[in-house]
Amino acid sequence: MKKRLALLLAGAMVLSAALTGCGAAKTDDTQKTDDKTAAATDTAAAGATPTLDAIKQKGEIIMLTNAQFPPFEYLGDDGTVKGVDPDLAQAVADKLGVKLKVVDMDFNGIVSALKSGKGDFAAAGMTVTEERKKEVDFTDEYVTSSQMVVVPAGSTLTAEDAALSGKNIAVQEGTTGDWYASGDTENTGSTIKDANVLRYKSGVEAGMMLAQGKADAIIIDQKPAEAIVASQNGKLTLLDKKLTDEKYAFAVQKGQDDLRDFINGVLAEYKDGKVDELITQHMGIK
Ligand code: ARG
Repeated sequence: MKKRLALLLAGAMVLSAALTGCGAAKTDDTQKTDDKTAAATDTAAAGATPTLDAIKQKGEIIMLTNAQFPPFEYLGDDGTVKGVDPDLAQAVADKLGVKLKVVDMDFNGIVSALKSGKGDFAAAGMTVTEERKKEVDFTDEYVTSSQMVVVPAGSTLTAEDAALSGKNIAVQEGTTGDWYASGDTENTGSTIKDANVLRYKSGVEAGMMLAQGKADAIIIDQKPAEAIVASQNGKLTLLDKKLTDEKYAFAVQKGQDDLRDFINGVLAEYKDGKVDELITQHMGIK
């Protein structure tokens, strides 16, 4: 795991189904609506899959992620991105018969990169939030998680919002942990006040800063919290309290329902503990 951590740190078209009213004789509004409905029905009946067709045409599907979030994504010893999300994404690519390309970037930039078409979907242990739903569409949820608090071993700090108020809290920038530490009540229910939020490019880095005594706590998702604690050889402690209830999903560009549905079909095959098996497998880090 240490080696992996070092690596982790080192690495740091819309074909909208133009369902516009295309009937020739539009005499009134009612007629227009009928035409639209008819066109939509025709297209659906023909099984139109514009996004999937374009991906097959390219022969490649691009996943956007931030590989600093074990066990969901991390850099393997060979420098490639490994984890639960790449495994699921590979299953999507295999089923489509195309190659998977993984693009590793700052977590904070993933939503806008997806919106501007730099990738076909995001798979990044990303929590479904109302805020993000304004920007992208989410697939079905495949993981349940919570924000948790990690403190230096021996610290008397508790995971109560009142106790965390005014403290130095390390987070990964742009994550729900960042929002929580920042006291974003609307999106996270947090009532933390005036914390000094130290924003890092990765949760792993935040964990190292904590181990070095540069912060009082980190707020981060449960499994990454466990992985970070395990990697710091007894220097850190994970507190029990769950600050939030969150669900992860893949994200696609708005309106790309064919791609979203296709991914949902693959995720459905991973129900009944199969995702948990992947999590266990990728937590078994050296
Ligand atoms: N679940 C949190 C969120 O959606 C953190 C995700 C961080 N993911 C990553 N690959 N770094 O904000």
